[in-house]
Amino acid sequence: MTKNEKLLRWVKEWTDLCQPESVHWCDGSEEENQLLLDIVVKNGSAVRLNGDKRPGCYYFQSDPSDVARVEDRTYICSEKKEDAGPTNNWKDPREMKETLRSLYKGCMKGRTMYIIPFSMGPLGSNISHIGVEITDSIYVVINMRIMTRMGKAVLDILDNNDFVPCVHSVGAPLRPGETDKKWPCAPIEKKFITHFPETNEIWSYGSGYGGNALLGKKCFALRIASNMAKREGWLAEHMLIMGITNPKGVKKYFAAAFPSACGKTNLAMLIPTIPGWKVECVGDDIAWMKFGKDGRLYAINPEAGFFGVAPYTSMKTNPNAMLSCRENTIFTNTGLTPDGDIWWEGIGYDVPAGTITWTNEKYDASSGKPAAHPNARFTAPAKQCPVIDNDWENPAGVPISAILFGGRRPDTLPLVYESFDWNHGVFMGSIAGSEVTAAAIGLKAGVRRDPFAMLPFCGYHMGDYFKHWIKIGENAPDKNKLPRIFNVNWFRKNSEGKYLWPGYGDNIRVLKWIFERLENSTSADMTPIGLVPEKGTIDLEGLNETIDVEGIIKIDKKEWQTELELIKTHYTIFGDRLPEELSKQLAALETRLNNA
Ligand code: GTP
Ligand code: SPV
Ligand code: MN
Repeated sequence: MTKNEKLLRWVKEWTDLCQPESVHWCDGSEEENQLLLDIVVKNGSAVRLNGDKRPGCYYFQSDPSDVARVEDRTYICSEKKEDAGPTNNWKDPREMKETLRSLYKGCMKGRTMYIIPFSMGPLGSNISHIGVEITDSIYVVINMRIMTRMGKAVLDILDNNDFVPCVHSVGAPLRPGETDKKWPCAPIEKKFITHFPETNEIWSYGSGYGGNALLGKKCFALRIASNMAKREGWLAEHMLIMGITNPKGVKKYFAAAFPSACGKTNLAMLIPTIPGWKVECVGDDIAWMKFGKDGRLYAINPEAGFFGVAPYTSMKTNPNAMLSCRENTIFTNTGLTPDGDIWWEGIGYDVPAGTITWTNEKYDASSGKPAAHPNARFTAPAKQCPVIDNDWENPAGVPISAILFGGRRPDTLPLVYESFDWNHGVFMGSIAGSEVTAAAIGLKAGVRRDPFAMLPFCGYHMGDYFKHWIKIGENAPDKNKLPRIFNVNWFRKNSEGKYLWPGYGDNIRVLKWIFERLENSTSADMTPIGLVPEKGTIDLEGLNETIDVEGIIKIDKKEWQTELELIKTHYTIFGDRLPEELSKQLAALETRLNNA
């Protein structure tokens, strides 16, 4: 099994508390996976999809209360409240542990406890880290097998390695003879997604969905890892990583931070509409970045799969995602067709008659209820992506030339602009925002600030996080080799509410401009907010619609003055932990706007 004393003690402690019927150490094998899939099909939790259309694919419907991350049930339990900061929920770690221990007591009765050893990042990379998740959910095991490198190979290296302990239970013990629910979970007031940053622990209770339950992802790779990264001088970010090759064969890697459901998966694997350009995917959600010996910033994707938004993914918008999830994929909360396939809004063809919705009702267009939940997801192995990058598992990572921030902004924010320097780029990240999406439950509609797309994922005080980014720039081994920083917005709308920019594959036109900025081969105009494309520098050739480029790039002084006031309000919450460098950036922006 394992010689790791800490691991054995920990498993014993939790077995005693949770009182499962049995304990299963996951080896990650094909046989084990099939065994687990057979159980969930047999007990009615899952449907095996049509083997001709979707070989090796399975379909799940969640409980209607358990469809996305629950931000108001997510806690950072640092010793001191101020270390969690104004953007996180906080509870005293002892108090939280006491509350949770009483919930965990006997919570796995009638169930099997699975022990999942997993690696975030390629085995053997000096950027990677190991975790072990305890769970009573088969859904979690089979998803973790896709999303991480999981099983025996990890257990083998655990003998002499430390690990991040991650505890998960759906919080639904079974009484003797009780039949299980299709999607067991606890009611919302008993769901807890908790993090103990000083001791690198994660305790999650009551939810089986996505980031609440697949603890390697947001809990470990962002909330805990952001703490490790701050202590150790690296970066754990909510970013895709992509390789871009120009027609001359020159390749650069970009990382991009957009909030949840704002287009990372789409951008990471886009098919360029400009001939001769190529995009390859390293990762679609999370980047861990460290300086390499050559002084450049290197990124790895700690994950091994995509947990992608299904609705509006189609062969037209994102063929590579569609091809990634053709086989060996788990679909959650999509529609189910009578011939054993999945369907969702925006998949690119009409809904087949007799389709069942994610709430297991007959689909009825006139009811106004969608077939797929807006946060329906596919879990697909990254290696199935037709444009997966050759270096996606390179333990050294890939060198990053540009960092992009973005979000859904119907107005104010231009299609693209470049920062004047590193600190201005950090300022851009700190003021990023987006209209809210369906990726989290219970958010008020409208634009919310989502600095660095990390609002729900930064595991410590956001003001300190800004300072950490400033320090990364200051302490860079070679400042000339730092990535350059840009902001993009595919979502600006006209007065009729229509998107001004075609987006998707056409986003290569913006990436090309950025690429050429890095090569100093294209020009930009200086504006009060940053550098925007000079007229005619965005390649529009081959577009069969007329685009109001000036309209999308325009910096409207009035809109920006409103924005300035919003930024000021946003900044007040960080108090004296707002780095001085950023208040200076804000003042400088104000001066530039007033003088414009
Ligand atoms: P998470 O997995 O939640 O972190 O989301 P993500 O950032 O990976 O977002 P994703 O790529 O899954 O896109 C979310 C939604 O935005 C999908 O419905 C896409 O169709 C839509 N979308 C993505 N890119 C574009 C774009 O360039 N233009 C427009 N209009 N919509 C887009
Ligand atoms: C996100 O919300 O940013 C996601 C989905 O990537 S989840 O794994 O549920 O966090
Ligand atoms: Mn995400």
